Amino acid sequence: MFAEQCQLAIQYDKISAPEKGFSEAAQAFFANPEAIGCNVTSPFKGAAAALASHLNNAASLAQSVNTLHRVDDQTLNGYNTDGIGLVADLQNQGVALSDKTLLIIGAGGAARGVVHPLLDAGIKTLAITNRTIAKAHHIASQVEDSRVLALDKPGLMSFNADIIINSTSASLHNTLPDLEHISFADCELAYDMAYASKPTLFMQHASDAGAKKVADGLGMLVEQAAAAFTIWTSEVPQSKPVINSLRQQLSL
Ligand code: ATR
Repeated sequence: MFAEQCQLAIQYDKISAPEKGFSEAAQAFFANPEAIGCNVTSPFKGAAAALASHLNNAASLAQSVNTLHRVDDQTLNGYNTDGIGLVADLQNQGVALSDKTLLIIGAGGAARGVVHPLLDAGIKTLAITNRTIAKAHHIASQVEDSRVLALDKPGLMSFNADIIINSTSASLHNTLPDLEHISFADCELAYDMAYASKPTLFMQHASDAGAKKVADGLGMLVEQAAAAFTIWTSEVPQSKPVINSLRQQLSL
């Protein structure tokens, strides 16, 4: 859809790599002189980071690459565009990020990928909480930015966030992370990185608990793809029509 908008003739296909054969599959793909780049999805994002010769900030922190771009025969750049996608979709929701207080629930690859782009967007504070709190502390210590902190349950009780983001994989299993100590009273947007045909359990909980607005991650999915498209082609496509079209397909 992006290529159509930009009137570019591109070929974009799915390649199923064997579980232990990502590197071979990627090398076979890039053996085609016309191959410019590819998206990479689970479980190969770590292997893609290992394959890349250069990583952007977000990819480096996450050690997780969702976009590979061949610049020349020797250089394969690795990006994580999830955070760019998240920031763009938060802006789509009409939420300004500058000076905002954010809470991210979860400290897996999804959280790691978005930390730098959120900081670059000028937020005031980024708190990370996680079922396994050590992982949240690990991210905070790796980032080395005083705006990033890890919050355990007692810390959450006195913390009020403007934006609360669920980055856990709980929604994928139709469950909720522990939200008992999290206040949604001052929350202007509760955002679930997961998406579904109907509001996720997290969105339902956040609404019931007082969040002014809730959103799922479909827009982030499209925006991270748009960012990858721009890396490959230097074109900036419009994401709105694609988000609308996917939303319609989801609800069918
Ligand atoms: P991803 O790359 O998608 O982030 P991941 O690295 O496996 O996937 O991380 C999943 C995240 O969701 C982790 O923060 C995980 O918490 P733990 O670090 O304690 O495992 C979190 N998670 C998954 N299921 C959860 C649940 N039912 N309740 C709370 N957190 C959950």
